[in-house]
This record gives sequence, structure tokens and C-alpha cells, in this order.
Amino acid sequence: MDSVTSETATGSAEELRAQFLAVRALSLDLVRGLSEADATAQSMPDASPAKWHLAHTSWFFETFLLRDHVPGYRLQDPRWAYLFNSYYEAEGPRHPRPQRGLLTRPSLAEVIDYRLRVDETLLEAMDIVAERCPQLLALGLNHEQQHQELLLTDLKHLFFHNPLSPAAWAEGPGNGGPHYVQAAGWLPQAEGLVSIGAAGNGFAFDCEGPAHLHFLRPHALADRPVTNAEWFDFIDDNGYATPSLWLSDGWAWVNAQSVEGPLYWRRDGRDWEQFTLSGWHHVDPAAPVAHISLYEADAFAAWAGARLPTEQEWEAAAQQMNPAEGVQLDAAGPVQPRFLAESGGMFGNVWEWTGSPYRPYPGFRAAAGAVGEYNGKFMNGQFVLKGGSCATPRGHVRASYRNFFEPHQRWQFTGLRLAKDV
Ligand SMILES: [Fe+2]
Repeated sequence: MDSVTSETATGSAEELRAQFLAVRALSLDLVRGLSEADATAQSMPDASPAKWHLAHTSWFFETFLLRDHVPGYRLQDPRWAYLFNSYYEAEGPRHPRPQRGLLTRPSLAEVIDYRLRVDETLLEAMDIVAERCPQLLALGLNHEQQHQELLLTDLKHLFFHNPLSPAAWAEGPGNGGPHYVQAAGWLPQAEGLVSIGAAGNGFAFDCEGPAHLHFLRPHALADRPVTNAEWFDFIDDNGYATPSLWLSDGWAWVNAQSVEGPLYWRRDGRDWEQFTLSGWHHVDPAAPVAHISLYEADAFAAWAGARLPTEQEWEAAAQQMNPAEGVQLDAAGPVQPRFLAESGGMFGNVWEWTGSPYRPYPGFRAAAGAVGEYNGKFMNGQFVLKGGSCATPRGHVRASYRNFFEPHQRWQFTGLRLAKDV
């Protein structure tokens, strides 16, 4: 597996066990308050039930580590490969994604038991894993972290569609507003040749490489993401009803879907409320706007007389920043983008749309075998997002990280930062 940098999951078998236990424990913490039904229902084809996330991440470890690398290992239940394989053609046929919510069996308890048995076996086999496939362990852990974020965003989408407006966590997002936010400032950025992509220090997904040179023209980036207050102005200025601001596909989408604001927003008299994992709350004007599509981000940028950054502009600006800073996921609890008194960092809070299509970097080669399907086959029709969000497990993201979604999708914590030519 040469397409994933092999340095991570670094350390002794004992250190790998500790990393493994920490990641696996967070997934269970996230579902601790969920009922069997909460964990089983599916709100749309793009989203998956919490139970499915728990099982699929375990299937990944069981298949690509235990089955493939631990001599004599026997699958817990061979039927579960059909249920919990996501999209790996090389692993054979699978249950249709839009029907994951129909899996009332196995029960949540059986899935958790499956997880624990996979954990137990993998912990016992960690010496073998450390010796033979530490890079696959790193991939499995980073994969599970991706699913932790999806579990939260999928749960939010599910609860939003329940008229009882359930809250995963009772307390609010704890923003302590209202806040006064200064107008965004423009920060001139590096121009000329810059190095883009993962250079091999620590784990990176295959799509982050190879590292290569890229030429940047003179440009500036906003010193913070676009806020909800600025989004109010966009709405009040008829941004959603002004076709000249929109990409053609975006204008068709706005009209077909009758979009009048970000996902999870509703009017409350003259104010706006938004649905969160802690129920309905007033929209904090000072917090970064979230749950917007690429179409909305692009239209807003046009309205503001700016543009979206390219992924290379974003990455070059973030290379000297600490990716472990910012509003990110540390533990189970309220998850919501928040106002930050100090701007400057580019990580956490909201994934920032770029105007760059998700395509292979020069020289990209997918790995051989099933794990080669991890990223490469999705490199069409999607755009790159950078920086991680409030639902991204801290430690997961970095400057070269390339998230990707289709231009209409907005159930992730997606926002934007403006860019302009200078
Ligand atoms: Fe997955």
C-alpha cells in the first residue's frame, strides 16, 4: 500500500494500542445517548445510520487488517461483509446505500458486541500489525475519525427531520454571545511557486500527494470565515433571488429546492433560528456561517465582489498554522461553529469550500487492491473543502487535507472564506 504515507501510526505496539483505543472509544461515546431507533434510522441516501457507522468502521479493521494480515483469523460473521462494505467493488456485492436504514437487524447491542470483539482481537494482534501493516492501522483510524464526523452530521440531519426536535446533548453550544465582529480584513498571501501536497511527514490520505510545485498569482485571503451576520445581509439584499450572482446549476438548484437560507435555518419573526445537535437556537450573528452548498458559497462571493480561494491558495496560507488549534471535536457533546475572539487560524469551525474541483494531483496513483478505491474513484463532480470543522476529531486534519463533496451538498459543517486577486 504505497499510496498512504507509512510514518503514522508510529511507535511501538503499545503506543499503537493506545491510539487505537482512544479513537475507538470516542465512537462509542458519540452514540451513548442514542436509542436503538435513533441509531437505526436513515434520513436520506447521503446519510447513514449511526449503527451502520459503528459496524462499517469495525468491518474495515476486520477486513483489511485482521482478515488480510493476521494468520488464522476467522470472520465474526461472514454475512456482515455484505451489510457493512460501503463501496469497495473489490470486496464484492453489498447492501444498497439508500437502504441502510432498513437494517433493523443486527441490533445496536450486537453491533457494539461486534466492535468489542474486533477490538479485542486487534489489540491482541497489535505486535503483528506494528510489524506488518502499521500504515493500514493508520488508515483505519483516520477512516474511523472521518466516520465520527459523518455520524454527527448524519444524526443532526436525522433529528432535524423529527418534529419533536430531539437534542443529542441537552446543553446549548455555549457561545456566550452576542458578539461584535469587525469587518473581515484582507491578508496578502505568498505568490509564485509554492509546494502543495503531503510531503511525507506523518499520515496523509493518498489523494494529498504527491507533493508538487504550484504557481500562485498575487491574491489575498480574508482573515476569517464569512459570518452569519454577513449571511443575513446577503439574504436581505435578495441574494437568493438574484440570478446574476449564481452559477447556472446553482440557480436551477435554488429554484428547484426553494432555498432561502442555509440548511437548518428557519425564520423566527425577524430573526433566524438554526437546528443544532442541541436543538433549536438563535443564529449567532458572529459565528461562521455553516451548512451552505458550493453554489451558495460561490453566489455569496460574487455578491461580495470576491471569489472562492483555490485549494492551493488555502493550503499555502495554512501551512505554517497549527492544525490542532481551533474549534474541533474533543469529546462527545454539543457541536456547533462558534465565534472566536481571536481570528487568524484556518482550522476548525467550518470546512471551507474552495473553487477547486477534486481531481488527482500530478503523478497520483491509487494503491493496488481494495484500499485503492478509498479516494481515487471519487475524483469527479466534487469540489475540495479545507480546514476541518467543529465535528472533525482534533488531530485528524492538516493543511494538505482534501475533503470533497458535491456542489449541492450541505449537511456537513460547510462554510467559506473569501479570496480576491490583487
Ligand atoms: Fe468508510
